[in-house]
Amino acid sequence: MKDKILITGGAGFIGSRLARKLLGAGYGVSILDNFSPQIHGGNRDLPEDLRGHAELFRGDVRDVSLCERALKGSQVLVHLAAETGTGQSMYQVRHYTDVNIGATASLMEIMLAGNTRVRSVVVASSRSIYGEGAAKCSEHGTVYPEMRSSAAMQKGDFEPKCPICGAATSMVSTPENAPFHPSSLYGLTKQVQEQMVLMYATTLGINGFGLRYQNVFGPGQSLKNPYTGILAIFSNQARADKPIYVFEDGLESRDFVYVDDVVEATFRAVEAPPQKPAALNVGTGVATTVSELVEQVIAFFSSKSEVTVTGAFREGDIRHSCADTTQLERVLHYKPTWTFEAGMREFLGWAESQALEASNYERSLDELRSKGLMHG
Ligand SMILES: NC(=O)c1ccc[n+]([C@@H]2O[C@H](COP(=O)([O-])OP(=O)(O)OC[C@H]3O[C@@H](n4cnc5c(N)ncnc54)[C@H](O)[C@@H]3O)[C@@H](O)[C@H]2O)c1
Repeated sequence: MKDKILITGGAGFIGSRLARKLLGAGYGVSILDNFSPQIHGGNRDLPEDLRGHAELFRGDVRDVSLCERALKGSQVLVHLAAETGTGQSMYQVRHYTDVNIGATASLMEIMLAGNTRVRSVVVASSRSIYGEGAAKCSEHGTVYPEMRSSAAMQKGDFEPKCPICGAATSMVSTPENAPFHPSSLYGLTKQVQEQMVLMYATTLGINGFGLRYQNVFGPGQSLKNPYTGILAIFSNQARADKPIYVFEDGLESRDFVYVDDVVEATFRAVEAPPQKPAALNVGTGVATTVSELVEQVIAFFSSKSEVTVTGAFREGDIRHSCADTTQLERVLHYKPTWTFEAGMREFLGWAESQALEASNYERSLDELRSKGLMHG
């Protein structure tokens, strides 16, 4: 009998695909999820193909006795349940802290109590722990810029600056030994989750992985959540021919990694033989600008959406993000295989087949504006 894997947040985008992969490989799977309405709308059940195959613990990851029951009999914990909106985290401070840090703390206490047989914990960390990450200064080489200043961005100056001489930098990929430097509360909670899991994995003498996912995309991602998922937001707007607002000058970039690559990396972490706890980037090492992304979305849907590059910016946003994948290849022997274009075809084709959601996008921007977290 193969191990039993508990996936918290297993009804979500990455978790449900991981559950399928694990079930297909013969593992037992249980899922703990509260079907958060912000993500699932009115849908309160697992995808049909998982029903009856994965054991479901319906409820909140902050519920300690539910977590105790769910962890009993599991050999691996994949902890994905989290609040995930970068902008929203900046004003829902207490809630994000409770869900992302508090619940992780309870899970660690349950394992420390010694009533479980968990041999490995994998936690979803994030690129956001790096803040601006690594950059290149023509004078000082690789540097780690501070958070960008509002004053500079108000003047349309968006590139991160060298912390030594103040000159504009250019983007390079960020390795795992870059300093922690989150610029949002979400990023801070991901940092603490990751460090907590790696610390207690070491204490318990079990495997521990903090997988620093870049921007994950693909079929099944929430089209309902206006607080997260730039691709989902833009494709909803494009399908409805509604305006698309691009922040900054559109040249901000992200490392978009296709969900199957993320699932494969996570699966390999589950299967990894006993080893030292590790934090690993999970991305492609290729950066795509937001303007390039919008172009592809508009072209796919032949959309009449008006695209405005607004110069506006949000507190907590970073300029560029791109993963150095050397450690992922070394430790989990995996290099993502999906190109951005191939992944986009899958995602946009799927999005087109979904019911068009009523858009809360404008409302989510108004919320940020009213709290002084969006400028312009
Ligand atoms: N998708 C990305 O681009 C990305 C990037 C970096 C990190 N991550 C991390 O990966 C993990 C999974 O992300 P995803 O994209 O699948 O998100 P998702 O929103 O699709 O899934 C999260 C799941 O967690 C559940 N959940 C939320 N709060 C909960 C609570 N209090 N109790 C129980 N369940 C709860 C939700 O109902 C949902 O099913 C998250 O921890 C996220 O921070 C995602």
